[in-house]
Amino acid sequence: MGRRPRDAQGDRRGLTRQVAGPTDKDKDERRPATKLVQGGRRPEWTGDPRLGGSVVNPPVWRASTILYDNMADLAARGHATHDKLYYGRRGTPTVWALADALTDMEPGAEGTLLYPSGVAANSAALLALLAPGDHLLMVDSAYEPTRAFCDGLLARYGVTTTYYDPLVGAGIAELITPQTRLIFLESPGSLTFEVQDVPTITRVARERGVLTMLDNTWATPLLFPALAHGVDVTMMSLTKYVGGHSDAMMGSLTATKAVWPRLRSAAYQLGQAVSPDDCALMLRGLRTLDVRMQRHGKNGLVVADWLAARPEVARVLHPGREDDPGHQIWSRDFGGTSGLFGFTLKGADDAGRARFIDALSLFGIGFSWGGYESLVVPGNPIRTATAWNDPDPLVRLSIGLEDPADLIADLERGFAAL
Ligand SMILES: Cc1ncc(COP(=O)(O)O)c(C=O)c1O
Repeated sequence: MGRRPRDAQGDRRGLTRQVAGPTDKDKDERRPATKLVQGGRRPEWTGDPRLGGSVVNPPVWRASTILYDNMADLAARGHATHDKLYYGRRGTPTVWALADALTDMEPGAEGTLLYPSGVAANSAALLALLAPGDHLLMVDSAYEPTRAFCDGLLARYGVTTTYYDPLVGAGIAELITPQTRLIFLESPGSLTFEVQDVPTITRVARERGVLTMLDNTWATPLLFPALAHGVDVTMMSLTKYVGGHSDAMMGSLTATKAVWPRLRSAAYQLGQAVSPDDCALMLRGLRTLDVRMQRHGKNGLVVADWLAARPEVARVLHPGREDDPGHQIWSRDFGGTSGLFGFTLKGADDAGRARFIDALSLFGIGFSWGGYESLVVPGNPIRTATAWNDPDPLVRLSIGLEDPADLIADLERGFAAL
């Protein structure tokens, strides 16, 4: 599914236009906003020479069975094919178009695999890259189900996990043992927003022959091209900003050439398939990711700055703000901010936090984030390597595309109820 098309024959906009297309090198040098628009629209997926034209979006190819012309055709496709119709589980052009477009967004990537959810993508990567007896270094601020997989199935399969301080930096070297095979990062942490020093950690990992994997859901490659920062495998919950409309679930893994075959082989064995209809939704979201992300980021900072000035707020956890402990590394490494951040309610208890949240009407109460609509949830960080000592209750906001003045008015109602 979705290996980089090294053999692509240009990208003519329609099969009928016989003009030389840009080379793969030209495509690599395109800017991210252009890649978001062009990615995955290979002419063989958007047109048919017999029809004499092409469509803008790769159509939805729904399939379980693929039909072969004859026995010779069946034999010729073989088991090893990808980007060639073989069997529905191996994908159709709609699926490959999304995988291709995501690969395009990550300079240095060999290919992208798609999974039914972000959690499925994380679990598949950990299973593919670790074996009994191996040691995993997992960031202490990781999304809770990621921890659950390490403490559950992974432990049962004989992989040991050590949680580490998200701010460990070069100190990660001291935690690497001869059994360590993988360092997992999530930056910023999606509940507590610590920014990790990814380039330092990946440099140490490479020196020690250890792989790195990053949950890049918060930033997406638009704000943080992970492989360019030394990461070997980058994961995203496409459910969030890529989908952007809170109506589909999916996860992705994008990897370097060295790691790609291991992930692909495990994906084929695990047999998780994604729906072409959901891929079409994800592709639709991807096309507007740049403009949405700019608006999420801008609205988020307006709301975060307003919150920081409120007497009821103890702390705003947003790396895009200058007073945030992660701001320096964030400004060095990231191309912008998304709209997800947290804050703590000064001196409040859980009941006060509940009153605050219940009084909001524009913010939906719900898990997930990255959609066009604003969301709020209480946050209760789970830590084992470090302590989360903040006595004030945490609230997490996903800022949508509404007018921030209306969001602020809504939050004012929350403070009144508090
Ligand atoms: C940081 C992070 N990673 C992974 C996931 C899992 O994604 P999904 O909900 O698509 O399984 C989430 C979901 O909230 C998340 O916040």
